[in-house]
Amino acid sequence: MTDTLTIRRPDDWHLHFRDGEIMRGVVPYTARQFARAIVMPNLTPPVTTAQLAQEYRERIRAATPAGTAFEPLMTCYLTDTTDPDDLARGAAQGVFTAAKLYPANATTNSASGVSDVAKLYPVLERMEADGIVLCIHGEVTDHDIDVFDREAIFIERHLRAIVRDFPKLKVVFEHITTADAVQFVEQAGENVAATITPQHLHINRNAMLVGGIQPHNYCLPVAKRETHRLALRKAATSGSPKFFLGTDSAPHLRGDKESDCGCAGIFGAPYALESYLTVFDEEGALDQFEAFASLNGPAFYGLPVNEDRITLERAEIAVPQELDLAGATIVPWHGGQTIGWRIAD
Ligand code: NCD
Ligand code: ZN
Repeated sequence: MTDTLTIRRPDDWHLHFRDGEIMRGVVPYTARQFARAIVMPNLTPPVTTAQLAQEYRERIRAATPAGTAFEPLMTCYLTDTTDPDDLARGAAQGVFTAAKLYPANATTNSASGVSDVAKLYPVLERMEADGIVLCIHGEVTDHDIDVFDREAIFIERHLRAIVRDFPKLKVVFEHITTADAVQFVEQAGENVAATITPQHLHINRNAMLVGGIQPHNYCLPVAKRETHRLALRKAATSGSPKFFLGTDSAPHLRGDKESDCGCAGIFGAPYALESYLTVFDEEGALDQFEAFASLNGPAFYGLPVNEDRITLERAEIAVPQELDLAGATIVPWHGGQTIGWRIAD
């Protein structure tokens, strides 16, 4: 049995840092494990311009513990009125690594998102020409569509058309939750990839709804039925370069999740690597972990791999029930559970 694993330092290709006091509490958890992270722009107000992204990046850098070589990679929040020139300039200057498509009202702070993908075509054209990566929250928002079907229907109604009309555009189908998404990505060209969160590898929808409602297992897209979870585990551990790590770590205060209208989002950052590695261990795929965590993402984004290494070791660790972040209480993913790996010092 392998008891330690040393890999190139990984990156997190999708997460939410928030802003202000909470951000200062959140950033160190990511900087402890990851060299880089794709930072989501869904602040209030959203990060829609290169100027706003540059200022936000400075605030994140200021919140990074001294002596930690962590690099935030910024994204542009696409709206119906995104200026393709500002986006292209921001990308050329190294401010933007990607742009993010939220269908309007699909998730937390997405009210200013795109109301009609057709309106985005001039922007997508420019992104394709300039090689700017498009990150997609792939869910339709139509009220008549069942929440469990929203990802699969997004593929048919929008994603197929985007990939067909922009055949060279690099697309990351983010935080995929269905076998349909796995199949779509596998069959698409090499310009199409997907991130997978730890929670969608660990839980199916029962974890949210059986034995009492469990708000800390609620995120968007919602966990689906077991067949989908199994398809995601197979994809993540397959060694395919199309799938890589993206925690979608999305902290909300305990009180905002345990509420009449609880927020969507799971704070996965604190024990992210340990959580993913448990899955690879259970699947007998420890040898595929480095590709998923540290190699496939940089290859897709056209960035260098990280040169330093991180070691994980088999050990029982008790994840705290809750964390105190500058006086705010947040429940971490796996809160109150024991997991079988830890990061060696
Ligand atoms: C995210 C958030 O809280 O910002 N929530 C979530 O459930 N994942 C937004 C998102 O990525 O959908
Ligand atoms: Zn997210």
